[in-house]
Amino acid sequence: MTGIQRDITIGSCRLILGEMGGCFAKDAYDNSGELFDMVEWADMAPLIYGVLSDDADAIIMASDREEGAARAAFDAAGFGFHRLLVWDKITATPNRWYMPNCEFGLYLYKGRARRITDCSSKALIRCPQQDVSHLYLGADVPPDQRRPHATEKPVALMAHWMGNSTDPGDLVIDPFMGSGSTIVAAARTGRAAIGIEKDPKWFDVACARVAEAAERNQMEMPVSAPVSAQQEALAL
Ligand SMILES: C[S@@+](CC[C@H](N)C(=O)[O-])C[C@H]1O[C@@H](n2cnc3c(N)ncnc32)[C@H](O)[C@@H]1O
Repeated sequence: MTGIQRDITIGSCRLILGEMGGCFAKDAYDNSGELFDMVEWADMAPLIYGVLSDDADAIIMASDREEGAARAAFDAAGFGFHRLLVWDKITATPNRWYMPNCEFGLYLYKGRARRITDCSSKALIRCPQQDVSHLYLGADVPPDQRRPHATEKPVALMAHWMGNSTDPGDLVIDPFMGSGSTIVAAARTGRAAIGIEKDPKWFDVACARVAEAAERNQMEMPVSAPVSAQQEALAL
């Protein structure tokens, strides 16, 4: 499957069912994108670089084993490297070679580097992993498959990084949307967003989560309130 299979707009968020390589292809965006069956770091990095604006930040999630290869690929694509952000997930699974209890976010920039919004933010953030994605699975998903997305991220973590790297009203993109945590964070913090996911099961989950977030915003936000006041009213 390549290109765009479904294209849904919920509030200021656009959710696309399709493969990231196809969605970023030349006829859709002005870059040198190609279609990939398997997206390697070296393949995705130039595509992502091509669609970002000239002063954009990018945060690339990677495990300790993947971080080196990811950093080399995004460096080669032209990104500047700011820092390695650490997500302390608090929980950990038993392992023979130490329990992995954190993930990394390569904090990168394109072009002119912007300052983060809250300069008192630390590079290490403790944020519990709170899987909710399986609660949004369709009724057609059999009981033995009703598990959370394997790499679901907490909305609060996405909102924290997004709040530091963007302003309200900016456009955020997650080309590997999964269960939609990034897009939910965008909806809840007043950012526009584009999410791309190739698996219909998780695309549907993302749509349901974003629709719920948009509905909640409508209930909670006075229509005429300025964006900053609206954000203060949101409990992430
Ligand atoms: C690491 S997960 C993202 C999880 C997400 N951050 C969340 O909170 O649920 C990566 C997702 O990218 C999707 N994916 C992999 N290759 C893709 C491609 N070429 N285009 C679009 N989505 C892709 C996978 O199906 C998977 O759901």
